[in-house]
Amino acid sequence: MKIGIIGAGQLGRMLALSGYPLGLRFVFLDQSEDAPGAQVGRIIKGAFDDPRALAELAANVDVVTFDVENVPVDAVRDIAAKKPFLPPPSALGGSQDRLDEKTLFRRLKIPTPEFAAVDSQDDLIRAVEKIGLPGVLKTRRLGYDGRGQYFLRTRDDIEIAWTTLGSVPLIYEGFVDFSREVSIIGVRSTKGEIACYPLSANTHSQGILRYSIAPYRSATLQRQAETYLKRLMKHFDYAGILTIEFFVKRGQLIANEMAPRVHNSGHWTIEGAATSQFENHVRAILGLPLGSTQPIGHSAMVNFIGTIPTAAAVLKIPGVHYHSYGKEPRPNRKLGHCTVVAASASARDKSLRQLLKVRDSK
Ligand SMILES: Nc1ncnc2c1ncn2[C@@H]1O[C@H](COP(=O)(O)OP(=O)(O)O)[C@@H](O)[C@H]1O
Ligand SMILES: [Mg+2]
Repeated sequence: MKIGIIGAGQLGRMLALSGYPLGLRFVFLDQSEDAPGAQVGRIIKGAFDDPRALAELAANVDVVTFDVENVPVDAVRDIAAKKPFLPPPSALGGSQDRLDEKTLFRRLKIPTPEFAAVDSQDDLIRAVEKIGLPGVLKTRRLGYDGRGQYFLRTRDDIEIAWTTLGSVPLIYEGFVDFSREVSIIGVRSTKGEIACYPLSANTHSQGILRYSIAPYRSATLQRQAETYLKRLMKHFDYAGILTIEFFVKRGQLIANEMAPRVHNSGHWTIEGAATSQFENHVRAILGLPLGSTQPIGHSAMVNFIGTIPTAAAVLKIPGVHYHSYGKEPRPNRKLGHCTVVAASASARDKSLRQLLKVRDSK
């Protein structure tokens, strides 16, 4: 069997790496011929909405999936009509517009921050009056890693926020004074089988995930998160990995966003769970039985952003696993990650501290 992946970033590369032992082969579509996926598969060069490149990809594989969210839904409808395209285009579309996404959360009774559509400076003034301050103005589309966001603290920020972002459709959200951020990652196969990973606790700075700790144990939050995730899976008749990012406030989950794909906060599952999110994604879209999502011990995952230490500098830390994506260093670019797996939470935390020290030395 051959799987086509739209996008050849590190997520696509890790999908392929997980699928080779199963006897699968991979082909990518990407604008860049030296994207990380090129190390492990052929790249068909083209834009994500290039009909010729999409048709060539579909013609060469049995199933098409994607490793990025900004694949134009209209462009993939043609191939989705001819080849299994999973997760379904409806889920891809549903995650691309923050206004649609939050409207859906509300409709499915999944708690989400207060929000309002903003298409003019007057809309923003009204939104701030209704929802209050502080708040976050975000582009509805194409934002990632904190890009396309402006945090408003006082009314004086309205004008600058509008001038900075106002050329595209926006959403204003109330700022959630959260005690922590967590994510749930789950998987549903084409046969309807479902499995969920334990929650991961995620630390962001400047909108970018810096490190995750898993499993984050809270029976109540785990139950709540799984309920919301399954509701979304059912709504989309989903297949593949689905992620929801939450804020935790006063012991309750508030959904921030969803991702219809493997997720950075699940990289720990490669070494820290019985079956990785990548392998389970592949199994799910092929209709194979899912693998166990049980954690193996206690894990932490640290992202390397902008710079990456050498393998030699980190491999002496107990329980550490090193992943370099082979990308050219650039500010704010995810270049690799390390996962620590340990038998106890305290041993994990000790290795995590060492890892963060190496990351921050320089
Ligand atoms: N409404 C909010 N209240 C508090 N913090 C927020 C809010 N929206 C975003 N953030 C912070 O910014 C990070 C990135 O925002 P997010 O909406 O997840 O966008 P992205 O698509 O860039 O990941 C979040 O993980 C959180 O730390
Ligand atoms: Mg996010």
